[in-house]
Amino acid sequence: MVEISLYGPWAVITGASSGIGKAFAEHLAAAGLNLVLAARSTDKLHALGDELSRRHGIAHRVVTVDLSRPGAAGALTEATGELDVGLLVSNAGGGRPGQLLDQQLQDLHSRLTLNAVTHLDLVHAFGPRLVARGRGKHQAGIVLVSAHGALQGLPNMAHESAAKAYVLNLGEALHHELAPAGVNVTVMLPGNVDTPIIDAFGLDRSALPIRPQPADRAVAEFMRAFLKGRALHIPGRLMRLMTRVMPRGLAVRVNGRMLAQAARNLAERPPATAKTS
Ligand SMILES: NC(=O)c1ccc[n+]([C@@H]2O[C@H](COP(=O)([O-])OP(=O)(O)OC[C@H]3O[C@@H](n4cnc5c(N)ncnc54)[C@H](OP(=O)(O)O)[C@@H]3O)[C@@H](O)[C@H]2O)c1
Repeated sequence: MVEISLYGPWAVITGASSGIGKAFAEHLAAAGLNLVLAARSTDKLHALGDELSRRHGIAHRVVTVDLSRPGAAGALTEATGELDVGLLVSNAGGGRPGQLLDQQLQDLHSRLTLNAVTHLDLVHAFGPRLVARGRGKHQAGIVLVSAHGALQGLPNMAHESAAKAYVLNLGEALHHELAPAGVNVTVMLPGNVDTPIIDAFGLDRSALPIRPQPADRAVAEFMRAFLKGRALHIPGRLMRLMTRVMPRGLAVRVNGRMLAQAARNLAERPPATAKTS
């Protein structure tokens, strides 16, 4: 199996300020990769970058960008122009449980940009550089973070499950399309990873059917699947088992009910704490 360090010297990670993206940053820095860290929270990105540079002797760059805005991915291509990037981790995303018709169309469009269009823009921008590396016999890869919810339409999360399905299909197709050019593409389908998104979605931890998996474990497990050249990976053995045995219709109903309750929980919160992306 190829070592992750060969995907360096630079990796780009979106949504690196928290959760799964932060765990990717920690994992890749420990393997010696220099990092471009992108998200909206500048302070968190600098704190993480400084800490990882100190601990692992890597270089880092911070890019503050709102990836829900059309064309925002351009900030990353500009910031990385001269860098030899071997790995793109397109991870930033978010959402809000609730009925589609209760949500503002403008918010839905912003979240479509964040959860689908930006992934496309990043793949299209970094793809040629990665193909050039792959053809030059260097390791090159793309990680697209979709969601377990992309496997079916979810009531009370119709928009995000649809947007994430775009990322799932984009990545699965590109896995095959870019393999001959030496670019390894793997889609992550997290469904139960312990990050701030669980509370931001209003989910009741005590009602979750499976205990959430720590983000560092999910990323370590995912990276093994990536290095083995898998097209897709669902973090967590129990999540994979549940996916195999639960009929699709039941998954739709169970998750839909859980998200309806999450939406009610969010509605009871003071507005300032209800994050939309
Ligand atoms: N945890 C799970 O079980 C789970 C389940 C399904 C899907 N996912 C997916 O996994 C990915 C990572 O989520 P997470 O669980 O790690 O949640 P998280 O801890 O909330 O992290 C989300 C990351 O995305 C960034 N982000 C959000 N909106 C952004 C915007 N408009 N522009 C730029 N960056 C933005 C956030 O940074 P800032 O706030 O600093 O911008 C943060 O770094 C997401 O795509 C999410 O949809 C996770």
